[in-house]
Amino acid sequence: MGLKRTGYTESIAVAEAGQQVVLNGWVDRWRDHGGVIFIDLRDRTGIVQIVFDPGEKVCSKELVDSAARLRAEFVVAVRGRVRLRPAGMENDKLATGKKEVLIEEMEVLNRAKPLPYSLHEDSPSAGEVDEMLRLKYRYLDLRRPKLQNNLFIRNEFCKATRQFYWQEGFIEIETPILYKTTPEGARDYLVPSRVHPGQFYALPQSPQTLKQLCMISGFDRYFQIARCFRDEDLRADRQPEFTQVDVEMSFVDREDVLALHERLMERVFDSVLGVKVKLPFTRISYAEAMELYGSDKPDLRNSLKLVDLSESGKKCDFQVFKSALASGGILKGLCVEEKQPLSRKDLDALPKEVAPFGAKGVSWIRIKSPGDWQAPQAKFFSDELKKEIEAQLPFTSGAMLFLMCGAPKMVNQSLSHLRTVFGERFGYVDQNAFSFLWVTDFPLFEYDPEEDRLYAAHHPFTSPHPEDTQAFLDAKDNQALRKIRAQAYDMVLNGYEIGGGSIRIFRPEVQARMFRALGIEDEEAKTKFGFFLEALEYGTPPHGGIAFGVDRITMLLAGTDAIRDVIAFPKTQKATCLMSEAPSGADAKQLDELSIRLIPRE
Ligand code: AMO
Repeated sequence: MGLKRTGYTESIAVAEAGQQVVLNGWVDRWRDHGGVIFIDLRDRTGIVQIVFDPGEKVCSKELVDSAARLRAEFVVAVRGRVRLRPAGMENDKLATGKKEVLIEEMEVLNRAKPLPYSLHEDSPSAGEVDEMLRLKYRYLDLRRPKLQNNLFIRNEFCKATRQFYWQEGFIEIETPILYKTTPEGARDYLVPSRVHPGQFYALPQSPQTLKQLCMISGFDRYFQIARCFRDEDLRADRQPEFTQVDVEMSFVDREDVLALHERLMERVFDSVLGVKVKLPFTRISYAEAMELYGSDKPDLRNSLKLVDLSESGKKCDFQVFKSALASGGILKGLCVEEKQPLSRKDLDALPKEVAPFGAKGVSWIRIKSPGDWQAPQAKFFSDELKKEIEAQLPFTSGAMLFLMCGAPKMVNQSLSHLRTVFGERFGYVDQNAFSFLWVTDFPLFEYDPEEDRLYAAHHPFTSPHPEDTQAFLDAKDNQALRKIRAQAYDMVLNGYEIGGGSIRIFRPEVQARMFRALGIEDEEAKTKFGFFLEALEYGTPPHGGIAFGVDRITMLLAGTDAIRDVIAFPKTQKATCLMSEAPSGADAKQLDELSIRLIPRE
């Protein structure tokens, strides 16, 4: 390659007129204006206009002819002189828009086939380009400035994070990918061993046990930007392989972990976006979050709150509510000021909104003014009861009260969803704000009534809350265990769980009790975590930590709501890579070496 660049295209913004430059990049667009060829030349820093003008002495006929043959995404090296664009021809949208480069020499470094779709966001077809096509040609899609910018943001986030931890005395330690099952509640990805026929490695769902072992080894402050693998149902903010900022600290309590990580976020948001985050973060307990917002990751930019009306509900004459309350249900309401009137059609669409949470419908009451309720069910509420309920509501004029009655989970999930829907619709959410929140004191266990068994709400290495430790050790049955709180905490940002962690169990007898509570028999605990239980017996310091979702935080930093937009080579909802077509079959010889025989599935 002859023409080596003197700088990126961005350098033209500050270059002097008359300065000689060499640029390397891609042809973004080209235009032929009566024989003068204008090219937008693109590199990772942006775009600059370059000109091939047959009227200028420096542009030979051959040069202009070869410029006329350039097409989108050809790769070129050009030499020329910077000049100011004529008055009125500047482009305010480009950082380099006041200048252009008159080209004197060009090397076409490579040609490109016509693209499968246009990379320009403003081209008529861009909005309609199927995401499947974009993912198949991911390397082309990554040329778009938006995706380039997202990956630069990700890079800045990781850089600021590493610098922060190093300054705080943490050591970055890599842990294995070929490992054993780690209990984060999803299915494992298994890797067959050729050397040990019939045996498998599990890809780590997180480095949880490994980072705790680093504490037992005495490293005291560990971090890692770690890849995790979970074979679980995917959503807009979930990928089967994703990245965590994973952290563990010794000789700390919860306050140390929370305070340090508020400062991490302060640093990251300042470095990446120049946004000043206010410390300390708001904190609420899990119980409070569920009561006020119906969710353990509420978006606090939204000022709407739920109201528990179970007690008042018992006094109404509406049989549906009465019987649901009598059989252990709850009645909760969401009251919104009707900033624009909701139409009949809006109200009729409500059951569809809450159906995914197992709800049959939503009751609504339009409160025109105090005591003036307009709704099919208004007649079931006496004047006195109306007053009692209104005293608990934030609005009593021009308001709409949505009521849900039934099983707590269904009620909370439905109203939490409606809170988001109406929060956005009626402008209760400040879209430009960053609202950080700690949710603390999660329950230690989740209960599965069908199997009558407990699962670890976070993971089985999470310590019980100090106030509940004795009750945990003394608990005789699942009923008692379900009441135990954990020393676990989540960091929530704008309604996304961006991080979660806990203070860990560090005494072997407490850990053994935990496995028993989870119905993991001693034998099974030994097979799966025997090495870990033994390690706990050789002088384990008290320790705790946290892990942050790098992909989710980058999403929020980049202002996108799709996790795929911040991952270079993401997977689809079905966990496939459309570009490489992974997963794919293995040939008979490979399977033979791994002692694997496939069972045909219908
Ligand atoms: P947890 O399972 O809560 O904790 O994960 C920590 C954070 O990782 C992110 N995350 C995900 N991001 C994208 N796709 C996924 N499938 C996915 N799953 C989780 C979330 C989440 O808050 N070992 C513990 C941490 C600890 O206790 O220190 C753990 O992994 O942002």
